[in-house]
This record gives sequence, structure tokens and C-alpha cells, in this order.
Amino acid sequence: MTSEERHLRHHWEPTLDAVQLVSNRREFADRNSRDVQNQTPNESRPPMGDNVGSSTGTTSLHLPASMKLTGEDNWPLFKEAIENLLDVNGLGKFISVRTKPPKQVDDEDESDSAEYTKWKEWKANDSKAKLILLYNIDKSLVGLILGKKTAKEMMDSLNQRYEGSGWVTKYHALVEFYTIKYDDFDSLAEFIVAYKNAIEKMEALKIHPQQPLHYTMLFIAALSDKFGMWAERQRSLARTATRPASLDDLIANISDEARHSKDDPSGALSPPPSVDVEPRPNIESPTANNERPNSEHIEPPLDFEPPLDFDREPPLDEQPRGEQPLDEQPPGLERHVQEKRAKRAYCVSCQENKEDWKPYGYEKRLQRSQISWALGTGATSAAQAPTNKRKDTRGYRVRGSRTQWYCPTSLSYYTIKESSPIAACVMLLLPEKDVSQLLHCLTSTQCQELLNALTSALGAFSGEKTTSCQPVIHQPIRSHIVTKAGNASLFMPVSDTSTTAIKVVTISGNGGDLNGIINIFSPEGRLMGLLGAVEATAFRTALATMSLFTRCTSLRRTRVVIFGSGNQAEWHARLALLLVPEEVKTITFINRGRQRLEKLSRRLLPQLQQRYPNVYINILPKEGTEDFDGRLRSELSASDVIFCCTPSTEPLFPHFYLQSTDNGAFKPRFISMIGSYKPHMQEIDSITLLSGGGRIYVDSKEACLEESGELIKANVRAEQLVEIGELFVPQQKLEEVTVPRGCNVVFKCVGMGIMDLVIGRKLLDIASESGFGNQIDGF
Ligand SMILES: NC(=O)c1ccc[n+]([C@@H]2O[C@H](COP(=O)([O-])OP(=O)(O)OC[C@H]3O[C@@H](n4cnc5c(N)ncnc54)[C@H](OP(=O)(O)O)[C@@H]3O)[C@@H](O)[C@H]2O)c1
Repeated sequence: MTSEERHLRHHWEPTLDAVQLVSNRREFADRNSRDVQNQTPNESRPPMGDNVGSSTGTTSLHLPASMKLTGEDNWPLFKEAIENLLDVNGLGKFISVRTKPPKQVDDEDESDSAEYTKWKEWKANDSKAKLILLYNIDKSLVGLILGKKTAKEMMDSLNQRYEGSGWVTKYHALVEFYTIKYDDFDSLAEFIVAYKNAIEKMEALKIHPQQPLHYTMLFIAALSDKFGMWAERQRSLARTATRPASLDDLIANISDEARHSKDDPSGALSPPPSVDVEPRPNIESPTANNERPNSEHIEPPLDFEPPLDFDREPPLDEQPRGEQPLDEQPPGLERHVQEKRAKRAYCVSCQENKEDWKPYGYEKRLQRSQISWALGTGATSAAQAPTNKRKDTRGYRVRGSRTQWYCPTSLSYYTIKESSPIAACVMLLLPEKDVSQLLHCLTSTQCQELLNALTSALGAFSGEKTTSCQPVIHQPIRSHIVTKAGNASLFMPVSDTSTTAIKVVTISGNGGDLNGIINIFSPEGRLMGLLGAVEATAFRTALATMSLFTRCTSLRRTRVVIFGSGNQAEWHARLALLLVPEEVKTITFINRGRQRLEKLSRRLLPQLQQRYPNVYINILPKEGTEDFDGRLRSELSASDVIFCCTPSTEPLFPHFYLQSTDNGAFKPRFISMIGSYKPHMQEIDSITLLSGGGRIYVDSKEACLEESGELIKANVRAEQLVEIGELFVPQQKLEEVTVPRGCNVVFKCVGMGIMDLVIGRKLLDIASESGFGNQIDGF
């Protein structure tokens, strides 16, 4: 402790002498600040401000000159910085509205010594906080805080001067909170920062909504225009949850959702603010000593200065040889040339390709002040952000901001404002694992887009049967080869005239793996992409079921039973939850064998349970379950939805199992079968098949009449069938499927090539946008 501090600790009176002291001290600090700026790059710097030494020798009492209070213009920055500085010194509570000072005891003899010590300690620390405030405001403003007895009074005085007080302030805080909307911000991260700030502001003004739920419900409402499905899901969960989600839960959830969608690239890639803070490594300016940091994941210092030509387009001779000239790059790309995919970039400073660059901030947790920095564009530090672009003390609303990038070789940070489009001549390879990964992180919005693409294609397929126009959809009969080794390959060609595809699936002769590829060609025959067919097929089949299921809005869809334990069963569960999240409450997987079902359960249940904590998921294996039939019957009689996903050769349950075990009353259900595809296969009995009031929905009348064992056994005729595409014929689209009284909705699907084509094509698009797969040039 310095002698000045010791003096202040015991005899603090804000006199002009003290101002002089502060002024002297400021000169010292400024000198010190200059010294700090002249430090060699390897010398370590304090996290914020000039280190003038303190009782511990490690804390700092001064802010950098650029952050000291000079007036209204830099008040928000000062406020943020001074709060941090006081926090760092352990003095934050002395300006907090929540802290109550201890009882004032002026003379040790008049009170017990414990109280006196407490008061003395408080007073000393409060004096230190006052000193810090005095150090860090311009001399011309000192009059605003002179004569104030405590640091809190000083801060209140400044608050009143620059932010106002009373009802008007409260009114503005309330309006700000209740009208906050995602659309007013450039990214999700910015919105979240602003939302949290609005809450903090209200709390500081002692405005408390009647129910804490306001915070979460308004958060959902503010995002509902942009993330409609997500908002619906959250509202529905809130209605039923025993413990409502907290604001932090919602922030984590929406950040996750946005990360996997293209809706909000910059915000999605930024971490949710105000989370755990990683220690900020010390890095020096790009020119420092030519030393490179050890890690790519280094955060810039607050006062990081980019090279002088930061905003300048590189001259032609700086452009990389063999790369596209910059004027062919998307607008807003600065110095770094982005190649075809978001994940790859070229740094013109070091002339290297950066294969695995990540947008700055991705998967990282930043301090709030650093988020301000990361959100800036032209501004290279929080201090430089223009006043009119500041939202408030904690974030900057800088329009056009996208993602900061860091090149570890040239030690530079740059902003890439737009993603470059996929070059038209690139072919995309999407192996099975990438298809699987992509499908597993689909958002409900993307899933809805895929569903729309599928229903449009089904509508076109059924629609053209009733017109005399030349067809645009061609699905020639599939052919197959069985080799001497017993490997059977199926070839399924299809064209919708604008794209052609062929799926090739091989079942190995030794009863082993199933392998498949979907090839997608341009109309001229150029190969646009190849993708693994196994998971994509399961997905598109379940999506076909969903095209009808989502429209059966008059049916209860709470209790779902799924027969099977393979990919198809899994995707029926995933899509039902993704597309009808607010209704599904229980899912029971029922399977013949135990082993595969338990394997599925171990893998799938934790994922689904985490994502849908209010949905109860369980399994029922036939193998090894006592009184399986009794339990099967009770599951089925309670069910609202039955998805059959097995190649069973006999009905999975008798029709009477659907009757209520209580009163025998009829309950309308959704029943689908996608598993059986040969005349000897049958997943449900004929009574159940015909329980739809003379109506069986199918994907293709011709294919189902030829391949479906259930239809063949029940001698079903074409007039009894309704193609789901008929529901989606343009101009006649039905939003809701009507269910005749006393009837079920029964759907049979054997699959069509057109489904592979539209879903395969759309998945390639999504993969390109999201950086999945491998691109091959000039194929
Ligand atoms: N409609 C379409 O467009 C379409 C497209 C692709 C596939 N599929 C068909 O959908 C079905 C499921 O596909 P997947 O990929 O999920 O298959 P998978 O992984 O092989 O799973 C098949 C499931 O069916 C069960 N199963 C097999 N034979 C059975 C029988 N005789 N009785 C009762 N259960 C039986 C299996 O149970 P265990 O564990 O006891 O063996 C397993 O749970 C297959 O039949 C497949 O051909 C349809």
C-alpha cells in the first residue's frame, strides 16, 4: 500500500488537495501508460488498464486513457470499464445497488470492536473505490462527484448525469425490455447481449416483472418471428414442463439451433454471451517480434491494432497466384480470399490455404467486453466503435458485421462479411457419415424445408397423372443384378426433368452390410454430387410418413408406438419429435429381438431425452419379456400413433389389441407401414388395413398394389387408395386431413425414386451451405 492510499484509508475527505493528488496521480498513470505502450512485445500486460501497483502489486487502479470518462460520448464504455476495474480490485460491491453498508461506527470506544473493525474496513475499501473513480474521470468532470460521501453516491451522480433517473428512466427500461425483437439486431449473439442487458437494467432500476417467467416467455416471443418452430416448441414445453426452462437453458438451446441452421450465421457462430469466462491469453500485436502464438484459438487483446491497411483491398500483385482475382470474390471480403466453402480460406498475407479455419469466436466463450469487440467491424477495439452504433454499455450494434477471422501465420484478424456461393462446377461427395451427421443436426426449419420439397414432388407426381401434358417425372422400373458371389445390387433411376438421379443399393451375399449411393446429375448429365444412400433413404421414407402425419391435425398424437429397431424406426421417432414437438409425449419402441433394441436404446435415448426432456421414451422387446402380449396390448390400446418399420411376414398385432382395455370405445389412430415390400410380407392384418373408412393412403397406387403384401392379401383395389401426392397437388393443397368418424388414418409406403431425388438434391444443397462433404473441382 502506498503512503497516499494509507492516508486516504484513514482520513478521506474529498478536498481540492485530493483532486490535486488525483491529478498528480493521473500524470503518473499517463506516464506509466506510455511506458506500457512502449513495452517490448514479450512483456506481459495487465488485462485492463495501466498497472500502477497496489497493495498486492498486481491489481490496477487506472483505465487506459481511451476509456476514462470524458463526457456523454464515452459514458457507456467508461461505465462498463469502471465496473470491470472495480470488480478486478474486489470493489464492485461499493457501487452496487444491492449492497448495504454496515452500521457506521465512528469511535472504537463507543461500540464493540468487531463492528468498528467492520466499519473501518468498509470505509477504507469504499475510499479506495472513490479514489479509482476519481482517477478515471476527466479533470473537467471531477465537480460531478466531489463532496459525495461514498463511491456509490459518486456513481449515482454520474448515472443521473448521463442516464437520467426516476420514472422516465424506468419507463424507457420497460419499453426497451418489452419491445426487444430479434429483427433489430444483426445476429443472435447481439440480440442475446441486448436482452440480458435490458434485464440487468431493469434489475438495477428495481423493476421486477411479476413473474420471473416473463424473462423466458418474452425471450421466446422476441425470437418467434425468426425461429418460429423453435418458439412453438419452447412454448409447448413450457406448458407441460414440471420445471420451466431457465433463460440460460433457452439461450443455450437457441444458440445450438442457430448453429445448425443458416438463418443466422454470424450470431449462430458466436457463443452465447455472459457465460463462463476463459482466461484470456496474452497476445501481442501482429508485428510483435515475429513470434507466433502457440495456438490458433487466441483471442485478441482489447486494444489490438490491426495493420494500417486493414480496410484496403490488396493490390493485384499481392493477390495469390492461381487464385481467383479479388474482384471475382463476393463483396465485403477483405484481404482473405474465401474459397468455395465457409471452412476454407486463403490468407493473402502468408499465402497459405487455411483448411480448417473457424470463424473467430466459434465454440469459444468470450468475456462480455470481448464480445463487444468481436461484434465490431471497422472498430478494432471497443473504444473505437462509433457512439451511434453502440447499443449500450455491453454490446455494439454494428450493422454489416459478420465473422472475425484469425490467421495464425500472419497474425491478423479480418472480417469476412459474406459466404461465397458454391462454384457451379464443383461436385460434392457426401459420404454416409456426413449424411448422417448432417441429418442429425437438422433444425426444424431445415426439416420443414425438406418436407416441403418432398410434398411438392409428390404433388407433381400425382398431379401429372390427371393431366394430358407430357410428364416431367420419370421413374422407370428398377433393375437388379445378383452376382455369382450372391451380392444383389438394385438400380433405381429417376428424373424430374430438371435433375436426374440413380440410386444403387447392394446387399452383400453373406447377409452382411447394406451399401448404397445416390448419384445426382444436372439435366445435361454433369455429376452434381454423390451421397450415401442408407441414412438418406431412412430419412426420406420417414419424411414421407410425416407428410401425412403432420396434416392429421384432428387426431391425438400424444402416445406413439414404433415397431422396429433399425434406421427407419429411429427416423420415424426423430422426425415426429422434430415436426410435431408440442404433441408427442411418449414413444415406445417395440421389437422382435432384444439385442438391437437395447443397442438403439443406449445410443438414441440419451440424445432424445436431452433434446426433449419432457418426452418419455421406452422400449419393449418381445424376446425375454414376460407377458409380452399383455404389455403389447396395453401399449397399443393406449396408443394414438403406430409406425410399423419391419419386414415382418405376419401381422405385428391383432386388430382387437387396438380396442380400449377399459371400455372398448373406439379411438382413431394414425397407422403407417413402410417395412413390407414383398407380397409375402405383412405388418398389419387386413381388418386394421381396412379400418380407414374405405380409404388407404399410399405413396404410389401402382407400386403399392404390386409390392405391398398387406394390400395383396386384402385384395385391395385402386379405387380404395388415395395417393398422398393428391393432397399436395398445386392449387388444391390440403392443410388438414379429415378423418371420418370411427375410422383410422392408414398409410402404406413402398418408396419411390422421386423421393431419393428431391431429398438427395436438397441434402447436397444443405451440405454445401453448411460445409459438409468434400468438393471436387472440374469433374
Ligand atoms: N418403404 C420404403 O420406402 C422403405 C425404404 C427402405 C427400407 N424399407 C424397409 O423398412 C424396414 C425397416 O428398415 P430398416 O432399415 O430399419 O431395417 P433394419 O435396420 O434391418 O431393421 C429391421 C427391423 O425389423 C425387425 N424385423 C426383421 N424381421 C422381422 C420379422 N420377421 N418380424 C418382426 N420384426 C422383424 C428387426 O428386428 P430384429 O432386431 O429382431 O431383427 C429390426 O428391428 C425394412 O423392411 C426395409 O426393407 C422401406
